[in-house]
Amino acid sequence: MRKFREQPFEKPPEEELPPPVGPRAPDAIDRLIAEHGPATICAILAPVLTEARVARIEQVLAARLGSILPVVEDVYEPHNGAAVIRSAEALGLQELHVLETGVRFQALRGITRGCHRWMDLARWRDARACVDALHARGFTVLATTPRGAMPLDAVDVSRPVAIVFGNEHAGLPEATIAACDGAVVLPMFGFTESFNLSVTAALATSQLAARRRAFLGADGDLDPARVAHLRARWYALKVRGAAGVIERAVSARTHGDVAPEPQSP
Ligand SMILES: C[S@@+](CC[C@H](N)C(=O)[O-])C[C@H]1O[C@@H](n2cnc3c(N)ncnc32)[C@H](O)[C@@H]1O
Repeated sequence: MRKFREQPFEKPPEEELPPPVGPRAPDAIDRLIAEHGPATICAILAPVLTEARVARIEQVLAARLGSILPVVEDVYEPHNGAAVIRSAEALGLQELHVLETGVRFQALRGITRGCHRWMDLARWRDARACVDALHARGFTVLATTPRGAMPLDAVDVSRPVAIVFGNEHAGLPEATIAACDGAVVLPMFGFTESFNLSVTAALATSQLAARRRAFLGADGDLDPARVAHLRARWYALKVRGAAGVIERAVSARTHGDVAPEPQSP
């Protein structure tokens, strides 16, 4: 039988890395969007994209949910880090926050398959700072632990919810649990004492996202400015050499040159 060989963690290019603390820092694409405006970026790049791609981006944008937000603390296994990102993106969640109080977050690229690019990843070194920032944005912040007092079903989804998951070994530190607004349990009925971290994150966020969408009566909840920015960002991520295409188109508009050639799908 062929032996499974673990793929080493690949460090993403520097500009894809979020800042050491806080929300994702603007990268080259964000800067182009800020300079020219999202509508201009979309007008330049839309002819380079296939109709199917544009339609898919609109479909995903319409279902993007910002008000259910997973937070993971000190994940050891890159497989788990990647699985958390992949499930969150597949569920249509826009943000993942990573607490690195002791362990640098890593995600196996072979498992994420690049899906982290569509999300906003924030990194924090201090649980209190992360929780305070989420409170300031109106989130209820809940810890998860097999010894939690509140069953997941009882979580109030009429407000945005951030849900915090601990690592594979010790789970969440007491200080993080204390900083949160409550501790949630996913009921278990077997002999096993806890779920796997990435399984818990998928189970919990899947249920919370479904209930939040039912509460909102809509799949997506991002405000129009964020949708416009993401549309321009995702167009740019889908076009090879987008920065060059944009610069040439802006220059052509200024000097009356020709439009860019469409790329093959
Ligand atoms: C493998 S578990 C850690 C187990 C650890 N020994 C503990 O007691 O917390 C990894 C993470 O998954 C989440 N988790 C696992 N099972 C859970 C459950 N039944 N209810 C709530 N959270 C759970 C928690 O966030 C936990 O920190």
